[in-house]
Amino acid sequence: EQWFAQGSSWKGKKVLVTAGGTIERLDPVRFLTNDSSGKMGFAIAEAAVNRGADVTVIAARIQGEPAAGIHVVRVESAEQMLEEVLSRFDDMDIVIKAAAVADYRPIARADSKLKKKSDRLVIELERTTDILQTIGQRKKGQFIVGFAAETEQVEHYAMDKLIRKNCDLIVANDVSVEGAGFNGDTNIVHLFGQEGRIASWPMLQKSEVAHRLLTLIAERITDKGDRG
Ligand code: CTP
Ligand code: CA
Repeated sequence: EQWFAQGSSWKGKKVLVTAGGTIERLDPVRFLTNDSSGKMGFAIAEAAVNRGADVTVIAARIQGEPAAGIHVVRVESAEQMLEEVLSRFDDMDIVIKAAAVADYRPIARADSKLKKKSDRLVIELERTTDILQTIGQRKKGQFIVGFAAETEQVEHYAMDKLIRKNCDLIVANDVSVEGAGFNGDTNIVHLFGQEGRIASWPMLQKSEVAHRLLTLIAERITDKGDRG
């Protein structure tokens, strides 16, 4: 195994990152989305490029412009993100799912702008496909990292997602804490593996979280290789 931790090369390694908040359209001019900025995902992508990896980002709604050297594929909806992830998944070494994917989408999407009529409007939503769970089921040696945004019982929900979605690592952030999560340039994360909590890092710049995360991934891939 040529996966080493700190400071060494990820040359030839294929990394897929998802970033940003998906957009689920109601009509041509209106959509449902969330507060994700894409900053965490792009910080990870940039850190992987710096280690020499071949990096593709499937990006939904994001703030700012991605750094050079990253292959970016733009999408809107959860369904489009699913397609772009699945079409590349088999070739990947590492997949990092930092995107904030809509859990529900409008059942109907109007082709022309909706006109106001009654005093109340009920919009019916249906579940989207869970991208992380789908790739977890198809996993053939890829190292899969999921994210978990929680406001309570972080460990309990993070471990549940790790097991249910067959991930190798979960990066959980308590989005109720100042300095963690969606917007902003910092994050406070807790790392979980199959064995439970691995680490809890203090508030760090997202670039530093990205760097530490890649080091942790490299260590765990090397360990996996060593075991057989
Ligand atoms: N995720 C996904 N596809 C979805 C929903 C979520 O791939 N349709 C991924 C996210 O990209 C993230 C992880 O699942 O890596 C966890 O997302 P999160 O919203 O925290 O968890 P959910 O499983 O959606 O559960 P809930 O929102 O109910 O907490
Ligand atoms: Ca969700």
